[in-house]
Amino acid sequence: MKSSAVIEVIKKPPIAVIYLNRPEVLNALSDELIRSLADALEDIDRDDAIGATVIAGKGRAFAAGADIKGMVEATEEEMAKSDRLALWMRLWKAKKPVIAAVHGFVLGGGCEMVMGFDIIIASEDAEFGQPEILIGVMPGAGGTQRLTRAIGKHRAMELVLTGRRFSARQAYEWGLINRVVPREILFSEAQTLAVEIAKRPRVAVMRAKEAIKKAGDSSTEELTFERQLFYTLFSTEDQKEGMRAFLEKREPRFKGK
Ligand code: CAA
Repeated sequence: MKSSAVIEVIKKPPIAVIYLNRPEVLNALSDELIRSLADALEDIDRDDAIGATVIAGKGRAFAAGADIKGMVEATEEEMAKSDRLALWMRLWKAKKPVIAAVHGFVLGGGCEMVMGFDIIIASEDAEFGQPEILIGVMPGAGGTQRLTRAIGKHRAMELVLTGRRFSARQAYEWGLINRVVPREILFSEAQTLAVEIAKRPRVAVMRAKEAIKKAGDSSTEELTFERQLFYTLFSTEDQKEGMRAFLEKREPRFKGK
């Protein structure tokens, strides 16, 4: 599997490392990036030399969410018809374990992406959040479902409805992530864990992952329901205003319609 412009894939058997690589936009998750990542994970599933993957972000953030520029002017019909967020489901079908090593901003789709993976290690500077409400929409890639399962309904409600960010320490205390480590050792921690898992019997690892997901992950039906609600917001004036205001670097003026 070759790297593309938007991700970098490094195979170091028994593990693979994938970097999100759009640092100039804080690794905003474009359709191209998600497709490349899904292709890479599917390739890794077919590669007998690899037993686990570490995903990290280049630059000052893991990922600041789905690419706002790529959807600001989309209509509800376009969003629903293309069902572009369905592409993300491919990421979470990976059979081999995926460990996210996150730093800086882990927002919107960035937070949603890692919640759908298997293990999350964060550096002390990581800031999590579902800030979609601030740009006139809601989480559309699993945030309302997976955050709620992880930290409980009332906390998820407050965070999603305010768009407030929360620290790595807070994420750890609420049980969202596995651990918080100093930035200097983030990658080595994730890599050591990936190598340990990659050395375990491969088929048993994949079956155990599958079984745990059955007990603790959101269903396709729940994720589809959320995604469809997200698309409906593209018929509102507040979605256009919120996303345009972000890109024009000004405060939005919401009308409630
Ligand atoms: N999409 C597109 N571009 C983005 C982006 C995003 N999600 N996040 C940041 N960028 C771009 C900025 O536009 C900026 O580009 P320019 O240099 O060309 O102006 C560049 O990345 C650097 O960002 P900032 O200048 O804003 O950096 P900052 O340090 O001042 O602020 C931030 C950082 C608080 C993370 C801010 O960038 C931000 O709020 N980003 C958007 C966060 C967000 O709303 N995410 C949710 C997206 S929607 C979503 O994810 C839907 C879903 O459920 C799938």
